[in-house]
Amino acid sequence: MDTYILGIESSCDDTSAAVLRGEELLSNVTASQQVHRDYGGVVPELASRAHQQNVVPVVDQALKRAGVAKESLSAIAFTLGPGLMGSLLVGVNFAKGMARSLGIPLVSVNHLQGHVLAHFIREPGEEHTPPPFPFLCLLVSGGNSQIVKVNAYNDMEVIGQTIDDAAGEAIDKCSKVMGLGYPGGPVIDRLARQGSPTAFQFAKPSIPGLDYSFSGLKTSFLYNMRKWVAQDPGFIEANKEDIAASLEKTVVDILMDKLVKAARQTGITHVAVAGGVSANNGLRNAFAQASEKLGWTTYIPKFGYTTDNAAMIGITGYYKYLDSDFCRMDTPAFAKTTFR
Ligand code: KG4
Repeated sequence: MDTYILGIESSCDDTSAAVLRGEELLSNVTASQQVHRDYGGVVPELASRAHQQNVVPVVDQALKRAGVAKESLSAIAFTLGPGLMGSLLVGVNFAKGMARSLGIPLVSVNHLQGHVLAHFIREPGEEHTPPPFPFLCLLVSGGNSQIVKVNAYNDMEVIGQTIDDAAGEAIDKCSKVMGLGYPGGPVIDRLARQGSPTAFQFAKPSIPGLDYSFSGLKTSFLYNMRKWVAQDPGFIEANKEDIAASLEKTVVDILMDKLVKAARQTGITHVAVAGGVSANNGLRNAFAQASEKLGWTTYIPKFGYTTDNAAMIGITGYYKYLDSDFCRMDTPAFAKTTFR
C-alpha cells in the first residue's frame, strides 16, 4: 500500500505544505510572507499572524494539487523546531489537530535534518541519484552554518558549526549596511556576478578545528564601509559590484576551507550543500571546482528546495514514519538550534 505523507513547515516566514507518495513529491505549496519587506528582517509577531491566515489554504491547495484526499493520508509530518516560537506553534498545533481528527500518526521533524534530506526528494518521472551514506553536508542558511556527517537518514552528527553568526546572517547584515534591503543574499549574488572578487580584502577568521566564525568578517566589513563612506559618500554606490563580489568570495572561501578539511579528516568524498545560502552562485561554482580538483562527487539541491519548504519536512517525516518514530500530542516546539 502507498504511503502518503503531508508535510507542514512554518518555522520562519514561509508557510508551506507538501504531499508525498513515499519519496515522490506530489505537491509543494508555499506562501511567502511579504509583510516583512519594510522592516529589514522578519518580524516574529507578524510572521505568526500570517501563518495563521495561510496555513488552512496552503494545506488545502497542497492536497488538491496532489489529488490526495485527507482521509488517504498515512501521517502528518511537521517542523517542531528550530525556528521562531510563535511561527512554529501555528504549524505544530495545526498538525496536531489535523492528525487527531483523522486518527493518524504525527511525526515531528527537525528543520535542519529536513534541509539535509531535501536531497532525497524525487519529482515524478525524474532520474534521481541521491548521495550515498555516509556523506558530508554543508548546511548554510540565515540561522545556521554547519558541517554535518550524515551516516543514515536518521543518524546525523554535527562535526563543525559556527560559534557566532551564520553565513547567511553575515551576508544579510553586510548587505544591509550597503543599503540593499532584506534578504541581502540574492542581491549580493546578482551584483557579485558583475564585480571583481579580489577588489577588496575583508577579515577571515582563524578558528581551530572545523568550526566557523563570521562575526569578525561582519565587523571588518562594517569598519571598512564606514571609513570609505566618510572619505567618499558615494563610495558604496560606485563600487557595489566589486564590494559584493569580494564579500561573496570571502564567505565562500571561509565555508570551503573547513569543508575541505572535514572531507580530508573523514575521508568522505560525497559532499552535499543545503539551506538558503546554497542558492549562491559563487558557492555552487566552488563546489564544481572542488569536484574537479579534489575528486568529490557533489550534490547541489534544486533552487526550490534550498529555501524553507515543506517537501523536505515531508521526506524526513517519511523516513521517520518507516522507523515508526512518531511523536506524542504533548511534544512541545523548540526554538533553539539543535540536531536532536
Ligand atoms: O534556509 P533559509 O531560506 O532560511 C533561514 O535560514 O531561515 O536561508 C535564508 C538565507 C538568508 O540569509 C538569505 O540571504 C540567504 O539564505 N540566501 C542567499 C541566496 N539566496 C538566499 N545567500 C547568498 N546567495 C543567494 N543566492
